[in-house]
Amino acid sequence: MAKTKEVEKWTVMSVVAAAVIILKAATVAAEPQVPCFYIFGDSLIDNGNNNDKLTIAKVNFLPYGIDFPLGPTGRFSNGKTIADLIAEFLGFEDFIQPYATARGNQILRGINYASAAGGIRPETGRHWGERISFDGQLRNFNNTVAQLAAILGNEGAASHYLGKCIFFSALGNNDFLNNYLNTKFYDTSRRYTLPQYISLLIKQYTSQLKVLYDHGARKVALVGTSPLGCIPFTIALRSKDGKCIEGSNRASQMFNVQLRANVDVFNRIFPGAQFILVDGYNPINDILINYEAYGFKVKDKACCGRSSTICFPNDVKCPNRSEYVYWDFAHPTEAACKLIARRVYAAQKPSDAYPFDISRLARL
Ligand SMILES: *[C@@H]1O[C@H](CO)[C@@H](O)[C@H](O)[C@H]1NC(C)=O
Ligand SMILES: *[C@@H]1O[C@H](CO)[C@@H](O)[C@H](O)[C@H]1NC(C)=O
Repeated sequence: MAKTKEVEKWTVMSVVAAAVIILKAATVAAEPQVPCFYIFGDSLIDNGNNNDKLTIAKVNFLPYGIDFPLGPTGRFSNGKTIADLIAEFLGFEDFIQPYATARGNQILRGINYASAAGGIRPETGRHWGERISFDGQLRNFNNTVAQLAAILGNEGAASHYLGKCIFFSALGNNDFLNNYLNTKFYDTSRRYTLPQYISLLIKQYTSQLKVLYDHGARKVALVGTSPLGCIPFTIALRSKDGKCIEGSNRASQMFNVQLRANVDVFNRIFPGAQFILVDGYNPINDILINYEAYGFKVKDKACCGRSSTICFPNDVKCPNRSEYVYWDFAHPTEAACKLIARRVYAAQKPSDAYPFDISRLARL
């Protein structure tokens, strides 16, 4: 009797021990591929940084976030953004916090600095109201670095830590849409030819990216601009036949060609760093071209709102959000974001990433 009890006790204990080992293994397996993920960009990935700003470019109300676990947060989508999904692919269990609300040790995991209407140039997006340009996002990042130095002991430790993180910068769309291509509010198209303007953008972007490098960033993924001529906004306002505006698409592609040519330059002038360029154009464009094959029914109109401006609180939304490529006037539905993010994270064609993709950048 006593012996059986003893055996039972040991059996229970070894089962518990095994369970603890399994749990530990699960926790280890759940560690993200990189310890931290810092995100810079515009409304495509803003996750709430504009909520307290004086601007029309903020969306912390329903139906935005209708499919998001936390409801409306300021994300310009019905659900997750491309940045949320890439964080998931990298193995992060929690969402990366917006700079506006990130506190304490959360900042060790990463921060999202993206701001709707923001761009490489400081005046970009001005007509929407307050926004955080890339310069402003970098000032905020500088504050984070000071906080990291306080947590980790000193600036050297912070810099060493940042070398292990992935930096993700998706800027430039607004420098066209809400600057060069918007001749009503901006005079850049009268001051510069398109090639001149693109050279200026690349030059400014380069000196801005140096701030990241100087603080220790070594793994940097840049994302190119998207097919701006095909978003519902452009089609609603400029297209007479419902087709994409080719001039806007060409401007975006010219920028991407220049940015790609500069990746080698970045890797030379920023020694020890690995910059990559992820194609921000074709993963969306391919969906637009073959939208039915991808399971969509509508590619050129917003699911919510009038396509020409943001979706407002009482706007009627489409009955089935996964049938639309675009959620609102300029931002893809979660259904489309899932397809795009998968390809942004892990290339499906050689042209998807140069010289290689984010999944490989994470393993360096
Ligand atoms: C951020 O910090 C770097 C390095 O300390 C400095 O060169 C840069 O001017 C700062 N940028 C801003 C926007 O404060
Ligand atoms: C919504 O659309 C998707 C894609 O066409 C389809 O698979 C799904 O069944 C639809 N859902 C409803 C509720 O109609």
